[in-house]
Amino acid sequence: MASFYVTTPIYYVNAAPHLGHAYTTIAADVMARHHRQRGDDVFFLTGTDEHGEPVALAAEAAGVTPRELADKNAERFKALAPVLNVTNDFFIRTSDPEHVKAVQEVLTKVKDNGYVELGTYEGWYCPRCADFKSEQEIVDGDRCPIHLIELDWEQEENYFFKLSKLQDRLEELYAKHPDFVTPSTRRNEALSFIKGGLQDVSLTRGKLTWGVPVPWDEKHVFYVWFDALLNYYTALTYAKPGQDLREEFWPASYHLIAKDILKFHCVFWPALLMAADLPLPKHVFVHGYLLLEGHKMSKSLGNVLDPFEVIDKYGADALRFYLLRDVSFGQDGSVSTADFEKRYESELANDFGNLASRTIKMVLRYRDGAVPQVEPDPTLQPDFEGLQDRVSALVGRAELTPALEEIWQRVRRLNRYVDEQAPWKLAKEEGRAADLDRTLATLVEGLRVVTVLLYPWIPERAATLMHALGAPADVELTDTNPALSLATAKLGARVPTHVTDLDPLFPKQQPPKAA
Ligand code: MSP
Repeated sequence: MASFYVTTPIYYVNAAPHLGHAYTTIAADVMARHHRQRGDDVFFLTGTDEHGEPVALAAEAAGVTPRELADKNAERFKALAPVLNVTNDFFIRTSDPEHVKAVQEVLTKVKDNGYVELGTYEGWYCPRCADFKSEQEIVDGDRCPIHLIELDWEQEENYFFKLSKLQDRLEELYAKHPDFVTPSTRRNEALSFIKGGLQDVSLTRGKLTWGVPVPWDEKHVFYVWFDALLNYYTALTYAKPGQDLREEFWPASYHLIAKDILKFHCVFWPALLMAADLPLPKHVFVHGYLLLEGHKMSKSLGNVLDPFEVIDKYGADALRFYLLRDVSFGQDGSVSTADFEKRYESELANDFGNLASRTIKMVLRYRDGAVPQVEPDPTLQPDFEGLQDRVSALVGRAELTPALEEIWQRVRRLNRYVDEQAPWKLAKEEGRAADLDRTLATLVEGLRVVTVLLYPWIPERAATLMHALGAPADVELTDTNPALSLATAKLGARVPTHVTDLDPLFPKQQPPKAA
C-alpha cells in the first residue's frame, strides 16, 4: 500500500477563517479523498499557527492574552473542517506542548550541526507577515507590499540560521528534482530567489515572548516561521498517541500553499531540513490567490467572503466544486456570487443533476428500476478509455482543475448521448427493446463512472447518487468503500443492478443572494 501525506499551511489565529483558507483546505481534501479511493494509506494534516507577532499584536488589540485569542480562533478553524466536509486526520496547534518540544529538539540539532550563529538583525520587518523585508520588496518607501502598512525598522540581537551555507545544496535540489515545486512558474520564482544569493536569516527573536523558547538561550523565542514550518514534521510524532507516524509518512508527499508563502516553503523549509539531516518533502504545490473585486481576499483588506455563510446557502459540495472549477488551481482567479450562481445552475444543476435525474427516471419508467445487465455501448468506450488513469495522474500532480475538466467532458458526453439515443423514442418503437436496454445500461454505468471520479470534489451528493445507483442504502459511503474504489471507474466495470428514486441533487432554487 502506498503512503500519501498531504498538508495545508497552518493558519494564523489572528483572525477568523475566510474563503482563502477554505480554498487550500478543500484542495488538500480532494487530494486526500482521491488517494484513499486509490487504496493509499493517507495522512492529511491542517491546523493553526499560533505564535509570533501576528497573533500577539491581534491579541493586544483585542485586549486578551495571545493564548486566549489562539484558543478562541483555533476553535473556529477547527470548526471549518466539518462544515467544508473535509477529512483531515489531525489538527495541529503550534501551542501544543508536544509540538513545542519537538521544535526545540530539531532546532537544537540544527545548531549542533553548525547552522546557527549569533548576530544582529537590522532592517524592515512586517509584523503582520512576520517577515523581514528587503529594500527591493518594500513599496512607497516603507510599506509592506502585501499589507500596505508602514513597516518597523528593527534592530535586535538574533540567532541566525546560516541559510547561505545551503545555497549549493538548494540549487542541486532544484536541478535534480524539477517537480519539487510546481507549477513551473513558481519553481522558477523560487529558483531565481535562490540564485540571487541567499542571506542568513533570523532564527530567533529577542523582543517577543509569545513563542517557542530557545533552549540554549531563554531570552529568545524561535522566529515564528521556523516553529510553524516544523509542524508538518512534528505532528507525526504525536498525532496518534503511542505511534510514531514519521516512519510511514515522512517525508510529506505534498505541501499545498499559496504563493504568499513561497519563499518559506520552497527555500527556508528544505534548507532547514537539510540542516537538521532530515529527508525533504517530495512536492510543494503553489496555488494562486482567490481574488474578490480584483484584490487578494484578506482579513486586513476587509474584502472577505464568509465560507460559513456561503455553505449555509449553497452546501459544501457546491462551494468545493466552484472553487476548483472556476479558478484554475495554480493561478489567480476572481470569484463572485454571480459566477457561482452561473456555475451552480449550468453545471451542477443542469449538466450533472439533470443527467442523474433523467437517467434514473428513465430506468424507473421503462424498466421498473432494474438496470439491464448488458455491455455498455461500444461507441462510447473511446470517450472513456484511459479516463481514470488520466484523472489519477492529474490529481497526483495536484492539477485539480484539469482533472475536473477531464471528468466534466464525460458528463457532457453522456448528456449528448441521451440526446443522440433519444430513449423516449426507443421506448415507443417496436423491436427496439435491446437498443433501449443498451442505452439505459450505458447511461447508468457512465453516470456511475463519473460519480466515482467526481466524489472527491462533491463527496456528499456523489454518495447520495451512488446510493440511488444501487449502493446498499444502510452503509455510509466513505472514501475507502469498495463502491467508490477508483479501480471501478471504468466503463463496464460494475454496471449497477438497480436504481432508486432521487431528489434533485443540486436543486434549481433561485439561491438567495450572498452578501
Ligand atoms: N501561518 C502562516 C503559514 C504557516 S505554514 C507553515 C500563514 N497563515 S495565513 O493564515 O496567512 O494563511 C495563508 C494561506 O492561506 C495561504 O498560503 C493560502 O493557503 C491561504 N489563503 C489565504 N488567503 C487566500 C486567498 N485569498 N487566496 C488563496 N489562498 C489564500 O501564512
